[in-house]
Amino acid sequence: MKEKTFYIKTFGCQMNIRDSEIMAQTLCEHGYHPTSVMTRASLIVINTCSVRAKAEQKVFSLLGSLRKQKADNPSMQICVAGCVAQQEGQMIIERMPHVDLVVGTQHIYELPGLLVRARHQRTAVNLSDSYEIPRYIPRLPTASEQSQRNGDTAVLSRFVTIMQGCNNFCTYCVVPYTRGREVSRKAVDIIDEVTALVNTGVVEITLLGQNVNSYGTTNPVSEEDTPYPFARLLHEVAKIPGLRRLRFTTSNPKDLPDELIRCFAEINKLCPQLHLPVQSGSDIVLRRMNRKYRIDDYLNMVDRLRTARPDLALTTDIIVGFPGETDSDFQATMDLLERVRFHGSFSFKYSGRPGTAAASFDGKCEESVKSERLQLFQKRQDEISLERNREYIGTLQDVLLERADGELASGRLPTNHIVHLESWPSTAQSGDVLRVMITGAGQHSLKGRAVS
Ligand code: SAH
Ligand code: SF4
Ligand code: F3S
Repeated sequence: MKEKTFYIKTFGCQMNIRDSEIMAQTLCEHGYHPTSVMTRASLIVINTCSVRAKAEQKVFSLLGSLRKQKADNPSMQICVAGCVAQQEGQMIIERMPHVDLVVGTQHIYELPGLLVRARHQRTAVNLSDSYEIPRYIPRLPTASEQSQRNGDTAVLSRFVTIMQGCNNFCTYCVVPYTRGREVSRKAVDIIDEVTALVNTGVVEITLLGQNVNSYGTTNPVSEEDTPYPFARLLHEVAKIPGLRRLRFTTSNPKDLPDELIRCFAEINKLCPQLHLPVQSGSDIVLRRMNRKYRIDDYLNMVDRLRTARPDLALTTDIIVGFPGETDSDFQATMDLLERVRFHGSFSFKYSGRPGTAAASFDGKCEESVKSERLQLFQKRQDEISLERNREYIGTLQDVLLERADGELASGRLPTNHIVHLESWPSTAQSGDVLRVMITGAGQHSLKGRAVS
């Protein structure tokens, strides 16, 4: 029988990256082998993102380009998963008849069985809103999976999804429609999964959810009667022996309780790094976005966070050109940049998404206005990022080595900054933590040398 090989192309956020890993592992358990060459795969899975129009266009143009491969090799299967799959469902098969299977975000665990079904009948398996995330404990990744994911280096860092969905309905955002309502995983499942990953040599875990702050508030996550908030989960996960670094993403600033802020002071393994998307510096825009906090609240949170952990590196997301955003609203975003001086940010032009409330708001910004604002914002953020990075020069830092061979060595600070080493001990290997003197800084990375 011909070997079953798969290739997964992932778009979008960390949640999708983790879902792709899970699909890869499930496929391996059903006799498939990964291949790094898309044209050789007997199964291509495209894990899609629909957060902005551009992300969705990329998916359809990739699908279009696969038409010929499918015509040349009709027995191969093409599967569309992820957020576009969830949102468009059957439509994808109608528009792209060479697609065999469309699988919604909550059905990835059933992939191998659905592929068998799709041999007989092209299928779209789609929305279902109330569900439990299956108890999934990963087995040891094979050597070929490791090298496919990460070159030849060992996998040190992994994501673990702790909740699915989102209940916030920010007016621009498609995620509550593509990922469904918020459901938290059982704490014991998360702890078992992290333990299993640590046993494979992973030393850094990032806990994932669209708004991890509300973990444990929408459904029970333990057998006990007492509440199990996110701060408690952090304390419990941090106790797992062998885990060195713990991170989480993302937090909606609308609920960042003191007990969570205190974790940055109390939990050694919790890295001094936080992604806290603010979206806009204007209260009027925030209200229209349904973000449920004001800029004063945000600034106050930043102060409390920096008091708890003075070395905290803060990053954010910004949308420019939201419907109704005036010059002075945009100026408020630029002012916020000066007040907080984020270590970095992701910034986007507002993109109207079907089905979201803001898609029908008045006052759409011209494309040229959005482009100009984005450019102004990014230029200033780049300068600030460089200034921030220079603050590390002359400091001693613990660097977790991700790569160390004869010619190159690089790793990460607890703040997640990348450091390229100029000198290092010949015995050093990936996974080691080295004391490093930072000697230089660029916009995107630092330079340093190991000290004994
Ligand atoms: N759950 C996360 C965000 C997930 S989406 C949170 O609330 O922080 C990631 C980022 O994409 C958002 O923070 C936002 O900045 C951006 N984004 C989402 N929808 C968008 C849209 N319609 N247009 C432009 N950017 C968008
Ligand atoms: Fe989207 Fe808002 Fe939910 Fe984040 S919190 S996923 S921006 S609706
Ligand atoms: Fe994109 Fe879905 Fe993530 S829309 S950002 S892949 S949750």
